[in-house]
Formats: sequence, C-alpha cells, structure tokens
Amino acid sequence: MAEQLLSIAPCHDTLPKNYIRPESQRPRLSEVVTDTNIPIIDLSSPNKSLIISQIANACEKYGFFQVVNHGITEEMLRKVMGIGKEFFKLPPEEKAKLYSDDPAKKMRLSTSFNVRKETVHNWRDYLRLHCYPLEEFVPDWPSKPELFKEIMSTYCTQVRQLGFRLFGYISEGLGLETDYIENVLGEQEQHLAVNYYPQCPEPELTYGLPAHTDPNALTILLQDQQVSGLQVLKEGKWIAVDPVPWAFTINIGDQLQALSNGRYRSVWHRAVVNSNKERMSIASFLCPCNSALIFSHKCISNGSSLSNFEWLLCFHQNHRNHELPCKFVLVLFLLVL
Ligand code: SIN
Ligand code: FE2
Repeated sequence: MAEQLLSIAPCHDTLPKNYIRPESQRPRLSEVVTDTNIPIIDLSSPNKSLIISQIANACEKYGFFQVVNHGITEEMLRKVMGIGKEFFKLPPEEKAKLYSDDPAKKMRLSTSFNVRKETVHNWRDYLRLHCYPLEEFVPDWPSKPELFKEIMSTYCTQVRQLGFRLFGYISEGLGLETDYIENVLGEQEQHLAVNYYPQCPEPELTYGLPAHTDPNALTILLQDQQVSGLQVLKEGKWIAVDPVPWAFTINIGDQLQALSNGRYRSVWHRAVVNSNKERMSIASFLCPCNSALIFSHKCISNGSSLSNFEWLLCFHQNHRNHELPCKFVLVLFLLVL
C-alpha cells in the first residue's frame, strides 16, 4: 500500500509502534564513535601505486573508504542530489503510481526493506532502479521530475566507469591483473537506490537501515552533504562515516570478500536517522552478471584470511538478512568445503 510510504504519510509526533525495535536491538547512538579514521583517498594522485596500496590497506582494515577527486564533477553530483530530492517531493499521487512491495521489480518505489516480510519497519523510503544496460531500463524509469531520466542515466554511466577504475586498483592491490575482477564479474548488473530518510520523531528507537552487509561486489555511495547517518562496525564499535564534500563512500560487498578469499571484508554497516533533518543517500551497486562464477582466489592469502569455518559463519551471517539468493557465493562454499 502506497500509504505506507513515509514520504506520503503525515508527520508523526511519536514513532509508530511498528517501527520500534526491541530494547536490545536499538542503535544506542550515544556509544557511536565519531572520531573516525576511515581512509580518504585522492584518486587524482599521479602516484598510481600509492592509490593502489591505500585502497588495498583500506579494504583490509575497514572494508570502507572515501574517494575524492574521482572524476565526477561537483556540478553533476549537485544535479543528482537535487533531482533525487525533487523526486521525493513529488505529489503523493505521482509517488503512489510507482509504489511496489515486490523486490523482483526492476523499477519501484518502496519503503523500509521488505515490507512483505518484516514485522518491524525501517524509517526509509527508496527508489530502486536497475540501470544496466540503460537502454533496456530507462524507458520504465520515473518520467517526473522532468530531467530525472537524463540526469540519472548520465550519472549511472559515470559511476560505472568509476567502479571499473576501482576494480582495476583493487585487482592490482590483490596482486592480480588489472582487469581480473572486471573479467570475473562479467557484463555486470548495476542497480541504483535513492534512499530517503525523513525526519524521525524518535531516532533512538529505530533505523533507516539496520546492520547489514552488501550482497553485491562493490557499492559506490553518494552521501547527503549536510546530514550524517552512515555507520560501520569496527572491532565491536559503530563508527560514523561523516560525509566529506562531494566524495564517494566505497564499500566492499560480499562478492569481493569471496573473491579475495576473505582478505577484503564486506563490513557490517547501518544507517541511522535523526529528529531534525531529513537525509538522502544514493547508492550504486555493481553486481556480478548472472552467469558469473565467483570462487575464492586461493593464492590470495595472508594472516587475515578466514578459515573455512569462519567463512561459513560469515556467509550465514551476511546472507540471512538479504532477500537475494547469492548463488555466486554459494558456489564458492561448495568449492571451499
Ligand atoms: C546503504 O547501506 O545502502 C545506505 C547507507 C546510507 O544511507 O548511508
Ligand atoms: Fe549497504
């Protein structure tokens, strides 16, 4: 029901009951560490081996990093954020037309995570789009706001190029050929999620997105420039990844964790909400193509690799929250066990 969309529902003074987490699962915002060392990597450095080693280090220690001077202009990013905000301000009847709670749909406006299955919801609306190949999917994208298709499709093309550049650095950091990851992942799927987190009357009691890992290969996130909300788990503590002006926040997904034999971690992260400002983030997901066969690269190993048992545990934890069957990683386990 489209009325479930937070961006359609009337403002609330207290959090509705079906968003309240049990006491033991709440975000405990006062314990979040704000002084973070999440690496910020300058992609314009002429020293390519420095970039590669900084990325390798970030992937091993944090699974997360931010990139600046990445080649996508501030003008473009302002347009993308602007059109995303305009989208969520469309009249309710426009948004209602796009609503679906079916995760299989390739274009849909929805809310929370999977409202069909959850008992407790998340304080988030999102527009989810499949974006590769563009000519197949763009015709079905929202036709309002007027420039939406044009801006978002240009953005998707540029993000894809950035992703492939990062795959090159990540491959080299693992001691592999530059195009190793790109080749293994094949003609990659690409998805976009425009996340909208309205002001929340009681942010201590709920999440925008609860702790999860990303089931894809790589996530390229454009964060709200004014409002923080992303947090990552490191050594048992939640640390805030505050936005750096017009940077992208990059994280390793489960597929790259598998491919790197656990050396690069697909790290737990979450989005929290706040009481006085709405927040938006735009996530681009690069995913293996359907026929890709991901297996752990046995030669990639160091002290931080996981044992088979840890792998299995990690797999189980990573995937119990996700809807997507992860056949790629499953194949890996059959091979490893
Ligand atoms: C995500 O994990 O997909 C989004 C996180 C955020 O909104 O910052
Ligand atoms: Fe995520």
